[in-house]
Parts: sequence; C-alpha cells; structure tokens
Amino acid sequence: MLKLPKLKSYNGTIKIQGDKSIGHRAFIISALANGTSRIYNSPKSMDLLSTMSCLESLGIEMTHNIDFIEVRGVNKNNFRASKNILNANNSGSTIRMLSGILSAQNFSTTITGDESLQSRPMMRIIEPLKLMGADIISKHNYAPLTFIPVKNLNGINYKLKIPSAQVKSALIFAGMFAEGETSVSENILTRNHTENILGLKTEITNDGFKTTVNNKFNFPSLKNFIIPNDPSSAAFVIALSILSSKSEITIPNVCINPTRIKFIEVLKSIGANINFINVRDNYREPVADIVVKSSVIFGDMIINEDMLPSLIDEIPILAVISLFKNGIFKLTGAKELRVKESDRISAVCFNLRKLGVEVDEYEDGFAFEGLDSYKGVEFSSFNDHRIAMAFAIAGMKIGNSSIDNEEIANISFPTFFDIVKLFSE
Ligand code: S3P
Repeated sequence: MLKLPKLKSYNGTIKIQGDKSIGHRAFIISALANGTSRIYNSPKSMDLLSTMSCLESLGIEMTHNIDFIEVRGVNKNNFRASKNILNANNSGSTIRMLSGILSAQNFSTTITGDESLQSRPMMRIIEPLKLMGADIISKHNYAPLTFIPVKNLNGINYKLKIPSAQVKSALIFAGMFAEGETSVSENILTRNHTENILGLKTEITNDGFKTTVNNKFNFPSLKNFIIPNDPSSAAFVIALSILSSKSEITIPNVCINPTRIKFIEVLKSIGANINFINVRDNYREPVADIVVKSSVIFGDMIINEDMLPSLIDEIPILAVISLFKNGIFKLTGAKELRVKESDRISAVCFNLRKLGVEVDEYEDGFAFEGLDSYKGVEFSSFNDHRIAMAFAIAGMKIGNSSIDNEEIANISFPTFFDIVKLFSE
C-alpha cells in the first residue's frame, strides 16, 4: 500500500513520455519496413517493451542508443520463427496487432500474456483473421493463441463490430500480406495512428470510415521517427493541475490527434482552463504544447457511446475529476470498459462506493454525483495502471488515503509517481 501525499499546486513545465499507441505502431511498422528506422522518444512503458521483445524474438534486430532505437526492418517477409512462446504480458495492443502479422507467416507461433490478458476477448481478431484464411488455435477464443502457417491469406471487406483500433490495425497489417484487397470500415473513427504512419487514406463511405490496403504496399523505413508525447498520460497530469488550486503547467509536445483528446473537450465544457499552443505537425500527427491552469469546474459530464472511442482510456480519470465538482457523471454505451486491463466499470464503482458515493451501475456504464467532502480510504488498483493512477490522484486530493500496487503505473506511465512528487506537500 502506498500512502498518498496530499495534493499541492505546481507551476512549471512537465515533460511526459512518448505515446504508447504510436510507439507500438512505430516499432511494428519499422520491423515490417524495407530498411532501418530510428525511433526517437520511445516510451519506457512495460506494454511497449512487450511489443519490442516479441519483435526481437521474431528476429528483428534493435540497437539502443542514447536518443533513439534503431530497428532493422525485414522487408515484410523475413521474420524468423521464435524459439519461445511470445509473451505480450499485459498488453492488448501487442497481442492483437501482432496477430495480424503472425497469421501470415510460414512458421507457427504461439503468443500469450499475463492473467489479465488471458481473460480478455480475442474473438474480435480471431473471427476476421479466420475469414481471411488464417488458422488460429485458442482455448475458447482466449490467449494463448497459436498461429498455424497457411498457404496465403485472402483480402476481405470487413466492418468492425466493435470500435477497436487494435482490431483495425491487426486487419490492416494482415491485409498487407493478403491476396487481393482488404478493407476495414468503422462507424466511429477510432485512433488512426497506423493509417497516419503508413500514409493510408481513409474514405467516408456508406459503410463509414473505410481504409483499404493490399499486398503491393511496400513499407519504406520510417528513417527518423519522433514519437509525440502521450495524451493519455497527459490526462493524469492535467487532472493533477486542475484539482490542485493555483497550478499553471505546460506539457510540451503532446499528440492532439482528435481521436485521442475528447477528454479535453469534456473538461473544457465544464470550465477547465486548457489551451493548445505551438500547434504543429509531427510525422502526420498534430502536436501541441498543452497549457493548463487550475480552474473552477462546474457542470455535468455526460458521456455516450459515440464519444467513447476518443476517450476510452480516460474514463477512470474523468470519473475522479467528477468527484470534486458539482454535477452529475453519467456514462453509457461503454460495455467495452468491462474487458480492459480490469473490469473498469466495476473497479471505478468499487472505489467510488468506498468513499460513500451512491453509484448507479449499469452493464454498459455508471452514474453518480460527487459529495461535498470525503474521508480518506484505501483505494484498490485492481492491478490496472489507469485505475491505480486515477485513484492515486483522488487520494491525494482527499488526503489520508492509499493505493495498492502502485508500480502497475509502469505499464503505461513509468514516470507518473515522479510527477506526483511535484504536486506533493
Ligand atoms: C489502443 C486502442 C484502444 C485503447 C488501448 C490502446 C490502441 O483499445 O483502449 O489502450 O493503441 O490501438 P481497443 O482497440 O480495444 O478499443
């Protein structure tokens, strides 16, 4: 149990690390590429290390330098069979995105993960990949997954059943090995970093947002690729500064891709003082310095299914911010949160109830209204990085609180507790 310090204000610039989602894709695409790529600002998050180590087991050579990691691509077709079972640990992005590539290899591979990952649904990738001709063995559609070599994959026209950028990316990667065209459509645009890095165009059709690929696509190396900083990590720093009075901070160089920053819109709609300065482009992603000033926030946070993909990872921290303002928090259409690193609906509701908050819990969301004051409690992380960080911040604001297994923050944001020190009394 970590006893949480009391929250105090901070003024200054706070550096956060590179974006995890872009990081996974930058390494996977560099591995597929023809030539050597240099990746700068690679985050040290455990999830990304899982992707890197799976790629290394598949024969991808990487050299670590002070400022960058050099990745020698194998021109799509020269991956090597791994001697060991691949381990994606806690990372859904790793297992799902790599599945698109493993389906198309002429050797078999087994990939698995930790207890949490083994309980997360894989049918969402198994079904479309099998439609493409992949041969995948699993126990009831959960990891471990074993990919058996097939003669070839065939392209498909696939409409996503769940808005998931991991599934979309897996199919884009598989489509690059398949005979004929593969197109993936989605009603709501999910994070599009794979398309952006590859320079793929997305059309708007009757089927929604549609991206098409084929096996003629050749992967040029990324040369010098700088990963912009992670908006999902920035969300926690923004929360620290909103909830402490008299803070004024700048978070430089953050990816502000619209598919990622709906939480900022929600916060601004209830009065949060957040501005983007120096807006610019970085490797096909919009980037800005984010300036946040403590502000009085007041109003309801109503989050529905359409908004969800662009703030899916920010629900726990938005709920925590909501605890301290006058207004209702209501989330619906978010069944997906039950199959994240933990059941995040139940984890958030559990911690809110510990504080004495009356919560209405639904299958696909929850609603509550914050109280005037709280007494400190022991929060539970549910071994989920985003639950741990969100409720660490709640505990700092309330005082006399603690959180278990705080190291789980390393999954996405290893410097989180260093930044917490800046905001500590
Ligand atoms: C991610 C997509 C989202 C998100 C996850 C990262 C990605 O998952 O929650 O943290 O990098 O593609 P889903 O694809 O399951 O929605």
